[in-house]
Amino acid sequence: MKDVLVVYKSRYGATERYAQWIAEALGCEALPVEKVKTATLLECRMLIFGGGLYMGRINGIAALTRRFQELKDKTLFVFTAGMTEPEDDGYYAFLYTRNFTEKMRKRIHFFAFPGAVEAQKLGRFHRWVMRMAMQDRAKKDPANAQEYLKMQMDFVDPQYIKPLVEKAQGILDDWDEKKKRQEELRQQAEGGEAEA
Ligand SMILES: Cc1cc2nc3c(=O)[nH]c(=O)nc-3n(C[C@H](O)[C@H](O)[C@H](O)COP(=O)(O)O)c2cc1C
Repeated sequence: MKDVLVVYKSRYGATERYAQWIAEALGCEALPVEKVKTATLLECRMLIFGGGLYMGRINGIAALTRRFQELKDKTLFVFTAGMTEPEDDGYYAFLYTRNFTEKMRKRIHFFAFPGAVEAQKLGRFHRWVMRMAMQDRAKKDPANAQEYLKMQMDFVDPQYIKPLVEKAQGILDDWDEKKKRQEELRQQAEGGEAEA
């Protein structure tokens, strides 16, 4: 059984960049969710899922919610890439409630990372939605209005993965430690049997 797997759904590449950095830091694979079969998800002990935010939903999260019962013995992490500042506790509390049942909320380690928007990459509908959101933001923060209205922002940065990686690595180290202790005990028991 693999210890850890990163799975992601990324429309314009922000989540994918975070997924690749996390996988690199933890020494595991990062796979797009559309290429992952249930059997592969069930093979690992720790599953780290990442999705971009779209109108208050975590893109691709159904891969987890649909299989939540099957994933009941996994350690689950979810991270998001979005244009809402990670410090906006009210928004992320709403997002968390909207995307996860109460049962899931108790089991998930959740991390929000800043995303990116590049107007020229967006499809027509997405560009329209984003323009409305950015006009709203420009009104609230007139000093940076021009930046918002250009819709040319890339806040994706590897520094943000640090708390997630530290938490995941801590759990993986605990598992390693436990494995080592069990192996030592097994060897001691075998040694004792041989002496008797
Ligand atoms: C149509 C649309 C809707 C969006 N809705 C949200 C949202 O509800 N909350 C948010 O924080 N960001 C929102 N964003 C910003 C995206 O989450 C951001 O661009 C993110 O980097 C996308 O990640 P991806 O490229 O990995 O799919 C939206 C972007 C678009 C184009």
